[in-house]
Amino acid sequence: MDEKIIEIKNLRKEFKTSLNPVSLIEFFFPKHRTTIAVDSLNLDIFKGETLGLLGPNGAGKTTLIKLITGILYPTSGETKIKGKQIEEQKKIIGLMLGYDMIYYRMTGYDNLKYFARIYKIKDFDSRIKELSELLEFKDYLFEYVENYSLGTKSKLALARAMIHAPEILILDEPTLGLDINVSEKIRGHIQNLGKTIILTTHYEKEAIELCDRIALINNGKIIRLEKKEKFNELLKEFSELGETK
Ligand SMILES: Nc1ncnc2c1ncn2[C@@H]1O[C@H](COP(=O)(O)OP(=O)(O)OP(=O)(O)O)[C@@H](O)[C@H]1O
Ligand SMILES: [Mg+2]
Repeated sequence: MDEKIIEIKNLRKEFKTSLNPVSLIEFFFPKHRTTIAVDSLNLDIFKGETLGLLGPNGAGKTTLIKLITGILYPTSGETKIKGKQIEEQKKIIGLMLGYDMIYYRMTGYDNLKYFARIYKIKDFDSRIKELSELLEFKDYLFEYVENYSLGTKSKLALARAMIHAPEILILDEPTLGLDINVSEKIRGHIQNLGKTIILTTHYEKEAIELCDRIALINNGKIIRLEKKEKFNELLKEFSELGETK
């Protein structure tokens, strides 16, 4: 029996944004827009699988990831990781949210050292070297991140997410904006990690290559969830979706 590692129940996230007033009345009584980014979503993720969240822009992929990792609080519903609340399980998760969590005015090495210290990793020097060798950016470790190519930044962001050897890796668009060769390399690394992985993407190729299951997301809902045998049908449905928001 497959072991459930993440259980998402009835998850919902609403964003309320105020609109710019266009009249005096609206200045005093501002209008709001409510966006339901994640809508009554249920999903189980199993140990060792790679699950892809595929969907068009604005579908709710990043919001879902932020909810799973506890960066955002849900409006309602819950996520359990190995049966516990997210707050108790943050250490077993590694998150790569684009290049958001790396500092450009530090070297790659100092970035990784900073995060290694947060996780109280004793032998951080050998961990940093090990990861930079694994992800092939060792030669750039002592250069400033602001001079890195996008590909090297991605490798560093992935290493940062993996610094504390987390059981679960969550990757938001890990190859966004990268050329074919670098994307291929990064995908190769992800494929060999042997962890439970959730990744978002809007590249079909990436989803097919990496994932055991793909959840097709649109308007905050999972509209289809398939294993490899039915990827073709799911991708057909994906190609028929337009940009939603
Ligand atoms: N902080 C926020 N405040 C208001 N609305 C938000 C916020 N974050 C996301 N949204 C809205 O929630 C919806 C889902 O956004 P989200 O970023 O999760 O989509 P996505 O699937 O990751 O899209 P993309 O492929 O463009 O990254 C969108 O309509 C977006 O405008
Ligand atoms: Mg996103």
